[in-house]
Amino acid sequence: MDIEDAKRVGIEAIYSGARVLRNHFGRISQIHQKGVFDLVTEADTESEKQIMRTIRKAFPDHAILAEESGANKGTAEYQWLIDPLDGTTNYVHQLPFFTIAIALAVRDKIELGLILNPIDRELYSAIAGKGAALNGNPIQVSSTASVSDSLLVTGFPYDFSEIIEPAMKRFSVCQQASQGVRRLGSAALDLCYVACGKFDGFWEQNLKPWDKAAGAIIAAEAGAVITDFSNQPFSINQKEILVTNGRIHEEMLSLLNIEEQKISD
Ligand code: IPD
Ligand code: CA
Ligand code: CA
Repeated sequence: MDIEDAKRVGIEAIYSGARVLRNHFGRISQIHQKGVFDLVTEADTESEKQIMRTIRKAFPDHAILAEESGANKGTAEYQWLIDPLDGTTNYVHQLPFFTIAIALAVRDKIELGLILNPIDRELYSAIAGKGAALNGNPIQVSSTASVSDSLLVTGFPYDFSEIIEPAMKRFSVCQQASQGVRRLGSAALDLCYVACGKFDGFWEQNLKPWDKAAGAIIAAEAGAVITDFSNQPFSINQKEILVTNGRIHEEMLSLLNIEEQKISD
């Protein structure tokens, strides 16, 4: 399979989902709760249906792991990972910070990432080894050399109760060490904003594979360093993710881990 063909189909799919999200934006009638704070709307499910239909039509034998419908059968060699609406809470509250994220893994290696913000129509894309782009123009991470000059971003999982103490401590430590920590509410967008240099670093715990697969390849291809909080190389099944411009990575690791030591004292 030609990866450029996959990219064309992925872009067609992402725009089909975007039309659904734009049509329902501000007009949501069904809001269900997957958990106490974890919402799902008709926009999530309809966007996912459109995206899957487009991908299945082009690649009927590929496997699909999509957030709302789970794993679908297909050849294990090719797997699409789909988040049909990343930032559902923002979407429900009509905040325009949400995205669609689509990735393609070939034999478990992510080869393609696509993320679209349907409101401002920014399309982030990357193919392994070929760099990352925003609306077709190459992007790269910032060159900020210290956390004190950095703007950071983080997120919190819906199931927050078990990690609230370390998560708030990390937030506090990083807030005090940097120019500020933002919490936008779409992990895929956070990763794109590190990729294009708006943010210098991002960390979060307990993200799912579809939250981070596309953003990770986009950030990596833009020059980001991605590990867990112990500096182990990135994998989509890890619980922790730290993404930086590379230059502040060591410093971020020590901030996140100093905090851990303080908590266990
Ligand atoms: C959520 C967003 C949010 C992150 C949560 C995710 P969803 O995805 O990415 O930024 O903090 O952990 O679950 O549920 O809106 O697709
Ligand atoms: Ca998500
Ligand atoms: Ca989602």
